[in-house]
Amino acid sequence: MIQRSIPLGLTYDDVLLVPKKTPVASRQDVSVVTSLSRHLRLNIPIVSANQDTVTESMMAIAMAREGGFGIIHRFMSIEQQVAEVTKVKRWSHVVVGDPYTLTTASTLRDFHRRREHYGITSFLVVDRAERLVGIVTARDVLFEDDLDTPVEKVMTPKSRIVTAAPTISLPEAKQLLHQRRIEKLPLVDRDGKPVGLITMQDILKREQYPNAVHDKNGRLLVGAAIGVKDDYVERAKALLAAGTDALVLDIAHGHSDSALRAIREIREKFGDVELIAGNVATAAGAADLIKAGVDAVKVGVGPGAACTTRVVTGAGVPQLTAIMDCASVATKHRVPLIADGGIQSSGDVTKALAAGASTVMCGNLFAGTDESPGSLVTRAGRKVKVFRGMASRGAAEQRVRREHRQLDDTTFNEMVPEGVEAVVPYRGSARDIIHQLVGGLRSGMSYCGSRTIDELHEQAEFIQITEAGWKESLPHDAEVTS
Ligand code: XMP
Repeated sequence: MIQRSIPLGLTYDDVLLVPKKTPVASRQDVSVVTSLSRHLRLNIPIVSANQDTVTESMMAIAMAREGGFGIIHRFMSIEQQVAEVTKVKRWSHVVVGDPYTLTTASTLRDFHRRREHYGITSFLVVDRAERLVGIVTARDVLFEDDLDTPVEKVMTPKSRIVTAAPTISLPEAKQLLHQRRIEKLPLVDRDGKPVGLITMQDILKREQYPNAVHDKNGRLLVGAAIGVKDDYVERAKALLAAGTDALVLDIAHGHSDSALRAIREIREKFGDVELIAGNVATAAGAADLIKAGVDAVKVGVGPGAACTTRVVTGAGVPQLTAIMDCASVATKHRVPLIADGGIQSSGDVTKALAAGASTVMCGNLFAGTDESPGSLVTRAGRKVKVFRGMASRGAAEQRVRREHRQLDDTTFNEMVPEGVEAVVPYRGSARDIIHQLVGGLRSGMSYCGSRTIDELHEQAEFIQITEAGWKESLPHDAEVTS
């Protein structure tokens, strides 16, 4: 069949949102609370991309603290990915339910090793019967050079530490920590075994980040990506055991038999786990993923800043049309959409949500921040960070090396990259970027007359513009100074 007519595909810069009469008096009256997936709610509609130059634990922590969501990429071993998820999960608690311990047989060498491994500075010490006998902190070992010294010798013994019953309420615990001028309150059961830990640091973190999103145990939310080949079932199992809140089954062409098979397998093996899948760019793609049982659909084929899929393969759908087409199906099933890729400004966030998405996923915008993996480099006097597509040659080579496969000429020549390696300007903290995006979004929603994202979905109206219209939208006829 030869196609006779060609539909028009539009993206963010092709349209503007028509201003409407608004009930919103202040940006603060706008709620940006949204759904990431069927069962997960976020306080802001921002998700950081599962790329190896964007999201590991530091980024995921920064996102969840602000009310968004980070998805740990999968281009590392299962153990490493689990360790990244664990770092997010242990960043804050209401009560640390399973505090790390050392035993009376442990030495300072063990203390240092575990301290480095888990990134924490104090451990409860237990005897052979797992009863609490003391606590050892970094301060206790400061001037101890002999690594064979037993921790028992330097710890603060139980007789000198304040403990509480597991039934203590948070306000009571806070008061006790304050009154006794202590940092940590171990919770001990009737047999003297430690069953929890409340720390001043966790209480302060909650006050410092009131918008943070938590699981039912008070730990930050985090997602993790899996593929559809090799170890993905084993990976999913380990990630779920570590407390991952959503699995993101992510491949470049998500509307494929292999993705659908993998979705069914994950559902079958892990029941009602929160499962996000993609990427697709059509209503048919979204419909098939939803039918296979996903809780959210990730939309975007080729809009990403480091993508060359459209140039290399000729395939893709401009992102605004892709979102609208997918939304025509997803809305009926109440399955949220994640608009993935191509977001360059807060205006694009408003447009993506207005088109029917519930969240946006950003790679490039967060790649240059303090929280992205990798260090700062100076290039031609400018501070930059490396950013790359996951289908770029560099990313593929690193994958081959990690899997201990031979990187010979044939492997090298057979690669057809669909992404680029680049640098992006240093952009400070992810928090600042989030504030700009969310501030602009709130304003944009107010222009649309919408107080909530649901209202935006109902009320938004686009107008298609010309190149001249877009040129007029940008600063012009003046030298921009800030
Ligand atoms: P932005 O524009 O925010 O987009 O950087 C992030 C999204 O880009 C996708 N991605 C790729 N797409 N080739 C592609 O065609 C690649 O190498 C590649 N790497 C990332 C991905 O969906 C990401 O979330």
